[in-house]
Amino acid sequence: MTARLIDGNALSRQIRAEVAERAAALTARGTTPGLAVIVVGDNPASAVYVRNKVKACQDNGLHSVMEAYPATMSEAELLARVEALNVDPTIHGILVQLPLPPHIDAHKVIETISPLKDVDGFHVASAGALMVGQEAFRPCTPYGCMKMLESIGCDPRGKHAVVIGRSNIVGKPMAMLLLAANATVTICHSATPDLAHHTRQADIIVAAVGRRNVLTADMVKPGAVVIDVGMNRNDEGKLCGDVDFAGVAEVAGAITPVPGGVGPMTITMLLVNTIEAAERAAG
Ligand code: GUN
Repeated sequence: MTARLIDGNALSRQIRAEVAERAAALTARGTTPGLAVIVVGDNPASAVYVRNKVKACQDNGLHSVMEAYPATMSEAELLARVEALNVDPTIHGILVQLPLPPHIDAHKVIETISPLKDVDGFHVASAGALMVGQEAFRPCTPYGCMKMLESIGCDPRGKHAVVIGRSNIVGKPMAMLLLAANATVTICHSATPDLAHHTRQADIIVAAVGRRNVLTADMVKPGAVVIDVGMNRNDEGKLCGDVDFAGVAEVAGAITPVPGGVGPMTITMLLVNTIEAAERAAG
């Protein structure tokens, strides 16, 4: 392997230590930062994510409450819970784990979260603020990717960044953050006819599709920085990303592994956003 490894665990430890300091300072001033996590139904992946989020809060001095509801919960009941948390002074961040059961309109739920507590950055007010360059909460995964670039001294200014994927959670906000950092940004997706044509020109590639081997060595310019947001299982059931890691690591200048790359950074940036929300609330 020739590429530099961007270690998400090491960077997370460093940022979480700063979070813990800020949490302790706020607590000393009488405000313990609080995160509420709501999960509806029994999606096994959601259960793991939610447990990890709650544990990360506990480990770093944040107060967290986890509310788990059966898949039969009605949309009205969920909206009422969110509204109650919006006015709960001990809660500074609200996260409703996605996906929600099909009878619940996820958009409606997200729009009910107060933008002041929208630590996922999924509310249209947060997305709009990102679009027009105003201060708001940045979605945690793309925010974590930007921190990873920063950690290796990769300034996107003037660089060509290619984002593969256009989800509201990762692809679109990722493109906006790179644009705000003065990159020239191309967004590729399932209807892009010749993906390799675009990725071969990229200085920075972010793969966020949710499919193995979307990016292979022949698609990467030597020295490019590759960020892998994917979380997939290979044929042996082992966790892997969207990038053919072994191949691409021989061509890229820097690369994030899976596991141990973007994954821990997503939770870390959730803690950062929650601290931010609590600091704003405390004035
Ligand atoms: N489901 C998968 N990723 C996420 C996330 O970052 N936030 C929420 N709320 N749900 C998710």
